[in-house]
Amino acid sequence: MEDYQTINRVSWDERAPAHAASPDYSVENFVSDPEFLSKVVTFDLPLLGDIAGLRGVHLQCHIGTDTISLARLGASMTGLDFSPAAIAQARELAARTGADAAFVEADAYDAADVLGRAAFDLVFTGIGALCWLPNVRRWAGVVADLLRPGGRLFIREGHPMLWALDDTRKDGLLAVEFAYFEREEPLVWEEGGTYVQTDVTFEHNVSYSWNHGLGEIVTALLDVGMELTGLTEHDSVPWEAMPGKMEQIGGGEWRLADRPWRVPHSYTLQAVKRG
Ligand SMILES: C[S@@+](CC[C@H](N)C(=O)[O-])C[C@H]1O[C@@H](n2cnc3c(N)ncnc32)[C@H](O)[C@@H]1O
Repeated sequence: MEDYQTINRVSWDERAPAHAASPDYSVENFVSDPEFLSKVVTFDLPLLGDIAGLRGVHLQCHIGTDTISLARLGASMTGLDFSPAAIAQARELAARTGADAAFVEADAYDAADVLGRAAFDLVFTGIGALCWLPNVRRWAGVVADLLRPGGRLFIREGHPMLWALDDTRKDGLLAVEFAYFEREEPLVWEEGGTYVQTDVTFEHNVSYSWNHGLGEIVTALLDVGMELTGLTEHDSVPWEAMPGKMEQIGGGEWRLADRPWRVPHSYTLQAVKRG
């Protein structure tokens, strides 16, 4: 395998400024309205509950819009991402909004080494994060290392079943074409676009990703001493995961237009580190 981190990072570095400029990330709304929250965090609120006063870390925070939303809910946030361009955008937004949010450039697997062990009450991540990491057991170890005993993981993520589907068949059928379970070999994609509206043409379009089955994710967390406290599957996802086959249902959520009850679109998993 080629160096997946470098290949993926150059792709994210190129996309970060385009995402910050896209209306879909609503960066200017954060500046003009001190109460504004990202649609992702707004969706999470009922399950997230009160996070005021918590020391939170947002793994794979991208340009910081969700991180800053969590800070606006009263948590003291640290965002971590391996893309210097994404971290630069996040820092700029934190400075413009005066948010209680610091941003650190590092690989997700190095988060506990860089940020400290047992240093956080809350690990928040997801929405296109786990798929960039080859090994979910290693990720779970990082989550457990970051949390103090009693600390909590909150992840809402694209569902591995959704990611196993090929939606590009000419007959319109959805086919289970890609791995559901984690495999050593990555899925190699070459795609020119991105998941938000933009006129920017990108040069770095190859990315490496991995799927992780729901049972693999849960078991990895149990094996590092986390206790599962919630697992909810949703019939929507906050990006147009299957272009042309989904409809917007409000709140930034997308759902299959045809019989959406066939397939889970995303899930929210919560777990607590045993004391
Ligand atoms: C889809 S974005 C996360 C989206 C985020 N939920 C949002 O919408 O703002 C994925 C992020 O993961 C980061 N990333 C990918 N692989 C990583 C790694 N190995 N370590 C740290 N960050 C990584 C990318 O730089 C990118 O910012």
